[in-house]
Parts: sequence; structure tokens; C-alpha cells
Amino acid sequence: MTVGRLEGKVVVITGGASGIGRACAMRFAQEGAEIVIADLVASRCEEAVEEIRRTTNGRAMYVETNVCEENDIEALADKAMAEFGHIDCLVASAGVSNAGYVSGQVIENDEALSNHLLNTNVEDWSRVLQINLTGVMLSDRAIARRMIAAGNGGTIVNIASSAARIALPGAADYCVSKAGVEMLTRVFSMEMLEHKIRVNAIGPGFIETPMTQGLRDNAEGSEMIMATTPMGRLGTVEEMANCALYLACDESSYTTGQILFPNGGIFVG
Ligand SMILES: NC(=O)c1ccc[n+]([C@@H]2O[C@H](COP(=O)([O-])OP(=O)(O)OC[C@H]3O[C@@H](n4cnc5c(N)ncnc54)[C@H](O)[C@@H]3O)[C@@H](O)[C@H]2O)c1
Repeated sequence: MTVGRLEGKVVVITGGASGIGRACAMRFAQEGAEIVIADLVASRCEEAVEEIRRTTNGRAMYVETNVCEENDIEALADKAMAEFGHIDCLVASAGVSNAGYVSGQVIENDEALSNHLLNTNVEDWSRVLQINLTGVMLSDRAIARRMIAAGNGGTIVNIASSAARIALPGAADYCVSKAGVEMLTRVFSMEMLEHKIRVNAIGPGFIETPMTQGLRDNAEGSEMIMATTPMGRLGTVEEMANCALYLACDESSYTTGQILFPNGGIFVG
């Protein structure tokens, strides 16, 4: 791969302090992008920013952000504009696997597995929808508004999931939130055509991040991953970042409203 696909571009990455978002931040910085990380915990954001500066010499900053909070998202967009003067790309990666999930903490035998809809309470349901779906909507909307005002177009990559298309018992909230992100991506891509903003998504399979740690540490969970994934392995965050990079840069210039599924063949075999 040649380097420099995102030279001079400013990229905002929600959930950029960990996992897929963090890998996107690193990969995009290697391609010349200036990075704005938006995530919950300042110390983890600082670490990510520090790594980018150290390894790529690129410009990076962070804004402590809760994607559920409209004010946070607006402040994020304003701070990115104040620092860099333009925003060219958004990767919306912030997300949770279930209401009790906290990134970076290993949850023994992912409780979502036994969390059937019959037992779900509205508070947990709303929390997952609020972060995974409304959070993406708020992020897309705030960044797109700035892109439109600047008049230079842009790209948006939403991180959905293969769960947008697979009915996972015990994870109705997650599946519904990701199916919502897929449709949000499609609708928004049509609304953004006239502004030359392309809106796409990726729908990863099982990826090696803190989110799947509980599942991977559990024999039954690991077996389920291997049995479901024809390639017989988890995906890496770098593989996800490469997919997101393709959708973020000009090499995908004729692609909008699409969801790309880097999932080791889950829908095929
Ligand atoms: N890991 C997988 O197998 C997998 C598969 C499909 C889709 N995904 C999706 O990829 C995205 C990234 O997940 P990951 O696996 O990298 O997990 P992760 O836990 O490593 O990263 C998620 C990040 O999102 C942040 N976040 C959570 N809630 C937030 C909020 N309210 N505001 C701001 N930031 C918040 C967390 O602090 C964390 O840094 C998620 O949307 C997830 O649903 C992951």
C-alpha cells in the first residue's frame, strides 16, 4: 500500500481510545491524517494520542466525549474545527456489546449470552440503543453539518457489526442497534449525496478487542466463534482499520450507502 491516502485530511474517531477505533486512528495517521480522538476516559485517550505522535509524528488531539450527549458531540466538533479548521472524515466506532459492558474490563462469560429478550429491562435496552445507534446518529449529524458548511464534501464510516444481519439470541439490543446503524448509513448516504459526503459502514465479525475478551476467555464462547467463522480465526483490528481506510479515502470514490462485512466469511460458509 502506498502511504499518504489521507494527507492533509482531518479525521474524527469516536471510540478512538480502544480496539477498532484506536487501530483506525493509528492506520489513518500513517496515511497522513490528523486525528481527533473522542472517547470517554481522558487517560486512555491520552495514551492513544501519545502513541500516534510517537510512531507517526502526526498531529493528534483528543476530546473527552460521551457520544450519547448532544452537547459533548457538538463540543467535540467545535474543538476539532477550532484546532484544525476543517473535518474531512468521521469514523463512528464508539459502542458497547451490552448494557453492562465497559471497555477494558473483562466480563466473565459475557452476560449478554443469557440476556434473552424476555428478561431484558427497558433501562438496559435503552442504554445499548442510546450508545450504539443514537450515538452514531449524533456523531454523523454534527460532523456532517461542519462538512457541509465547509463545502468540501467528506466521508463517514460507521462501525456497525455483522450482528446487523445475524439474529443472536441474548443480544437483541445489540443486533437491533447495529441493524439500525446499517439503515441509518443507507438513509444518510442518500441525504448527503448533494453535499458530496459519502456515508458507508463496516460490519465486522468477531474481532480481537476488549469487547470479545470475555467470550474468548470462555471455552464455549471460543468454540462458538470458531464454529461460526469459516476462516477459523478472529479478525484483527488492523484488518478492520484497512477496511475503514478504504471507505474513508478516495479509492472508494464511487461507493456510498454500503456496508462492507470483514467477517472471515460468516455469511458465506
Ligand atoms: N470486537 C468485535 O468483535 C466487534 C464486532 C463487530 C462490531 N464491533 C463494533 O466495533 C466498535 C468498536 O468496538 P471494539 O471491539 O473496538 O471495542 P472496545 O471496547 O475496544 O472499544 C470501544 C470504545 O468505545 C468507547 N465508548 C463506549 N461507549 C462510549 C460512549 N458513550 N461515548 C464515547 N465512547 C464510548 C469505549 O470507551 C472504547 O474506547 C463498536 O461499535 C462495536 O460494536 C466490534
